[in-house]
This record gives sequence, structure tokens and C-alpha cells, in this order.
Amino acid sequence: MDHRERDLEAAVARWRSLGRPAPALALVAGSGLAVDLGAPLAGPEPLADWLPFEVRTVPGHRHEVELIEAAAGRPVLYFRGRLHSYQGYEPAEVVYPVRLAARLGARVLVMTNAAGGVRPEWPAGTLAAISDQLNLTGRSPLSGEPPAHWGPRFPDLVDAYDPALRALAREHAARLGFELAEGVYAGLPGPAYETPAEVRMLRTMGADLVGMSTVHEVVAARHLGLRCLVVSLVANPASGVSASALTHEEVLAAGRAAGGRVRALLAALLADPRLTAGVSSSRGD
Ligand code: HPA
Repeated sequence: MDHRERDLEAAVARWRSLGRPAPALALVAGSGLAVDLGAPLAGPEPLADWLPFEVRTVPGHRHEVELIEAAAGRPVLYFRGRLHSYQGYEPAEVVYPVRLAARLGARVLVMTNAAGGVRPEWPAGTLAAISDQLNLTGRSPLSGEPPAHWGPRFPDLVDAYDPALRALAREHAARLGFELAEGVYAGLPGPAYETPAEVRMLRTMGADLVGMSTVHEVVAARHLGLRCLVVSLVANPASGVSASALTHEEVLAAGRAAGGRVRALLAALLADPRLTAGVSSSRGD
């Protein structure tokens, strides 16, 4: 058996031996956006307990996993904090939590991230559903030879960010009293923020948001057939879009400031049966 398969099998066997239910969906929260979403059914526990490789931390980023019950009978596997390539992880390691969630039975992936706003008209604090992506990392989590039954060798990425789920998110945001913008996310390797020239290039290429995560997770999720919804918080105007320098503290502070809206939107979405309608929770076996 392929070693990637073996690691996942071992994690799944442990999950079941703990008597935990299969999650209907997975939630991955980004920088400073690991909001509380209710009493956990299990955890929180260190993400490291579930990874076959070592966890490296970033100041202000958590790495925990818990199982929450978003609505009666709808367990959600909640990753509080994600892994980034700039921490030294390989793309296949970055997406390990997504593959684990899929193997446990999740068919929908909801994620949040913090991003720089490439559009001058989007102030810090804007929430936007990602409509499409530019993977500018030059890497893919599908490099090598993933087990054939995981998905097609050349997966299609049209509507990788599920249009029906985006509409659902917009509907809930409107009900909560704010507008959910929509735009294209450019994923770069980081960890340096972009130069103003790079941000001008990104705008020309069609990007509305720029960040250092997400694109590999979405490629891996689509490869496995998961439907994806990703909400970006514009934590700051991207480099050169405003005159000020960018700091990690500013990004974390924006996450705290938007925490209430992010929590309300996620709670409404996770409680909505339409989020997982039309997808059955396969146990992957
Ligand atoms: N650039 C890249 N990643 C980011 C930014 C940014 O401006 N803000 C938050 N994450």
C-alpha cells in the first residue's frame, strides 16, 4: 500500500476506534479566524496528534482540530489553523488535513483565510467568497503519483469554488446584514508580502485577493470530489494599494475585528441543510 494511503488508513482506524462519527463536512480556519463555533463533541486536540509529520507553528496561528455538532446529526471536523508551504511543508503535507477529512467521510470543504485586497475599493474588513483561483506557487499537491482511486490524474477545476455554495453564503451574509463580495484569489508562496509591482501584476492577471494559502487545499479537495466554499477576509489592502507597510499583527488584528461576522456567517451556513444537500456522507470505504 502507498505510504500516503497507509497514514490515512491508520488515522481513520483510530478515529473509528474512538467511537467518533463521520464528519459531514470539514471546516478549515485561517489566520486569526479560528472562531469558537460551539461545544465540541471531541477535542480540541493538537493537530499534531493526527499528522504523520511534525507540526511547525507560526505566531498567532493555532493548530488544533475538534469535532463540533453544527446542527443535530451534522458533525463538522473543524481544523483551527492550517499548514502553509512557507512553514516548510510540502504541498502534499499542506493538504493532509483535507485528505483526512475526505477519508473520514466529509464531502464538503468550507475554509476561511486572510488575504490582501488587490481591489482598491475593498477596505480591510471586507468579506469575500472566492470565485476562482490563480495558483502561482508553481507547485501542486498532486505531483507524483497519488493513488488512482483518489481521483482523476488530470482533474477539472471549472467551478472549483462551488457556485451554489457561494450563493448560499451570499444569502446568509445578506440576512445577517452585510454584503459578501466575490473575487479571484491569487495564491503565492510567501512568506514575504508582495511587492507593489507584484500586486499590479496580480491585478492585471485578474486577481482580486492575494494570500499564501488555500490554492493547494482546493486542488486536493476537487481531486477527491469535495465541494468547496472559501471565505476570505480582506485583512489589509495589498502592498502598494495603500501607502502603509504590511505587518502580521495587522492581519491578526483584522481577524479579531471581523471575528463576529465570520462566526455568524459560519454558524448560519453550517446549520443550513442546503450546505450538504445533494452530497451523501460517504465513509470512503
Ligand atoms: N498578502 C499575502 N497574504 C496575505 C496578505 C497580503 O497582503 N494579507 C493577509 N495575508
